[in-house]
Amino acid sequence: MFYETARNDHGLPHDPFKSCVVPRPIGWITTVDRAGVLNLAPFSYFNACGDHPPQVMYAPSGRHAEGGVKDSLQNVQETGEFVASLATWEQREAMRISSSHVLRSVDEFALAGLETEPARLVRPPRVKGAPIHLECRLSRVVELLADDPSRFRNWIVLGRVVGVHIDDSVITGGRVDQSKFRPIARLGYADYTTVDSHFEMPFPD
Ligand SMILES: Cc1cc2nc3c(=O)[nH]c(=O)nc-3n(C[C@H](O)[C@H](O)[C@H](O)COP(=O)(O)O)c2cc1C
Repeated sequence: MFYETARNDHGLPHDPFKSCVVPRPIGWITTVDRAGVLNLAPFSYFNACGDHPPQVMYAPSGRHAEGGVKDSLQNVQETGEFVASLATWEQREAMRISSSHVLRSVDEFALAGLETEPARLVRPPRVKGAPIHLECRLSRVVELLADDPSRFRNWIVLGRVVGVHIDDSVITGGRVDQSKFRPIARLGYADYTTVDSHFEMPFPD
C-alpha cells in the first residue's frame, strides 16, 4: 500500500504513522515552572540525538482547544532545565497515569503515587525508582511544521545532557544491562514493548 499523508488516504481504521517508526523510548520528563511547581509527563517523541556533548530531544505537541502549549514546554521555556527519567516495565502503570491531562497546578508525582529524588545539577527532580536519569539544560526549542497552527502545533525541545545517573543495580560487567534495566517503549496504537532480547553486531572497520 501507499498513502499520501496530505490526504491520509490509507484506508485503515487508524492512522498507521506512529506504528511505522518503532519502538520509541519513553522519556519521562520532569520540569518546574518559575514558581517551582513540578510537572511530569511521558514523551515517546523522545530520543538521544547528539554526542560531545550528549544531547536529547522530546517533542511536545498540542491542540489549540487545549491551550496548545503543554506544561512540559512552557516550563522548560521558563526555567531552561529538565530531567529525562527512562520509563521501565516496573513503573509502567505510574508512567501511564502521569500522562493524564490535568491542570498545570496538579503534581503528577502525587497523582501517580511517585516520589521525587533531587537532581544534582538542575532544579527539576528525578523520578524515584527509575534506574536511569538524564539531567538536561535547554539548548533550544524548535517549532515544527503544522498543517493548521490554529488547531495543532508541534515543537522539539533540545537539551544538553549535563549529568547521567545509572543505578548500580542495572550495571553488569561494566555495561548497562538491558535485561535489568527493562526500558519500555511505544509502538503504535495503545501498544508498548520492552527490551527483552538483543544481538551484537560489530561495526565494520
Ligand atoms: C507513552 C506516552 C507517550 C507520549 N508521548 C507524547 C509525545 O511524544 N508528545 C506529546 O506531546 N505528548 C505525548 N504524550 C502525551 C503527554 O504525556 C500528555 O499530553 C501529558 O498530559 C502532557 O503533560 P504536560 O501538559 O504536563 O506537559 C504521551 C503519552 C504517553 C502515555
